[in-house]
Amino acid sequence: MSLVEKHFLKKRSGIARSRVGLVAFLLLVLPLMKVFATGDEQTQVNTAKELKNPYLGQKEAIEEGERIYRSRCVGCHKSRGGSGPNLFKTKLTDKQFLETVMNGRKGTNMPAWSNLFSIEDVWKVHAFVMSRDQL
Ligand code: HEC
Repeated sequence: MSLVEKHFLKKRSGIARSRVGLVAFLLLVLPLMKVFATGDEQTQVNTAKELKNPYLGQKEAIEEGERIYRSRCVGCHKSRGGSGPNLFKTKLTDKQFLETVMNGRKGTNMPAWSNLFSIEDVWKVHAFVMSRDQL
């Protein structure tokens, strides 16, 4: 092998090595960038998806919610809380309220209501309890 050839080979493998480096760099960094990017998208989607009660402040929904509350909830929750907490003072988010009522609380007396009520029904009860401080 001539000196020139050797030199040429060295140079090539140098380039090849730097290419490997670049590829490795991209393989490492791109997925990370992707994770951050999707992380971002996710938070945006989640914020957008954070469920809000669409019935808040609506008179008819509140009246319907009161009917449901008086027939199904007041027995335990009473006007200012009984065996269950005072719902008029709940600190749960809309979404947490909905989930709690639909799924109940395992290991407590709070039943799951998803067989009886639609999501709209629960939103109406929520609109009712949010509309005042006590029964
Ligand atoms: C058999 C009794 C009972 C009935 C009926 C009942 N609950 Fe409850 N509920 C409870 C108890 C007990 C808790 C507290 C559970 C715990 O210790 O975490 C509770 C907790 C809750 C919570 C969580 C409140 C908070 O701030 O953490 C919500 C919301 C709730 N109930 C809504 C309702 C609604 C709406 C109804 C009527 C559709 C209803 N409950 C009917 C017993 C009842």
